[in-house]
Amino acid sequence: MEIKIKHLDYCFQDNEVLKGINAEFEKGKLYGIVGPNGSGKTTLIKLLSRLLKSKKNSLFVCDKELNEYKDKEIARKTSLVPQMFHISHGFSVEEVVAMGRYPHLKDFGEMSIKDWEMIRDALEQTSLTKLKGRQVNELSVGELQRVILARAIAQDTPIMLLDEPLSHLDIHHQLEILNLLKDLCENKNKTILCVMHDLNLTMKFADRVLLINEGKIFKNGCVNEVLTEENIFRVYKIKVNIQHIEDQSIIIF
Ligand SMILES: Nc1ncnc2c1ncn2[C@@H]1O[C@H](COP(=O)(O)OP(=O)(O)OP(=O)(O)O)[C@@H](O)[C@H]1O
Ligand SMILES: [Mg+2]
Repeated sequence: MEIKIKHLDYCFQDNEVLKGINAEFEKGKLYGIVGPNGSGKTTLIKLLSRLLKSKKNSLFVCDKELNEYKDKEIARKTSLVPQMFHISHGFSVEEVVAMGRYPHLKDFGEMSIKDWEMIRDALEQTSLTKLKGRQVNELSVGELQRVILARAIAQDTPIMLLDEPLSHLDIHHQLEILNLLKDLCENKNKTILCVMHDLNLTMKFADRVLLINEGKIFKNGCVNEVLTEENIFRVYKIKVNIQHIEDQSIIIF
């Protein structure tokens, strides 16, 4: 297992935000994480990326307790696309994507030809090649979100933690990125956790889905088991109709 979560609880002051979370994530799969606003999705991603500190023996990455990793070592295992992002002025698109390679460099090391190839590929895969010389503070929000994704792709970690990575992208780029993530799972054996609000895109692309509600896992399993009319009604309080057209399931609101 790439990630194991055992009896994870988390409180902000006296507000218990995650309650008894147990889950496992394996190699080569794209996990959709869905749930209403405030249900705890970002808190879970922040704990897994160590932006928040978990209590001991609740999170394991590649069989090692998360808190035991050194910073550079964990940056070679997991990459993060946060829900909210800000990049300091004064960097070009290419420079920000190149930052993804830093955890792999020796102290004060130079980038190798292979590093530059990975940066070039990440720019290409996110349709940013033409923008590579632009300053990041001069980009649209969607373009900037693709830069953050490209940096995570260049980081080339076995685990990717993505918190609403499509939230600012148009439908063309949403599909481009989801196809890319699927390809990274299938052909590079990556484990990808991707928080999403679009249930139809989750249905189409995820291998498995975690439906979180009020800090607990409401249901964890394959797409058709989790995203049912009943579960959607119980968690989101809306009535939907799920239709199966050819090999695709579509949620009609
Ligand atoms: N820094 C904080 N201090 C106190 N409470 C917080 C903090 N961050 C989040 N919370 C609370 O924790 C709960 C879970 O928040 P979280 O950001 O994990 O939700 P989410 O599922 O990611 O929601 P969204 O879909 O809106 O992004 C919410 O009730 C939120 O108000
Ligand atoms: Mg969130």
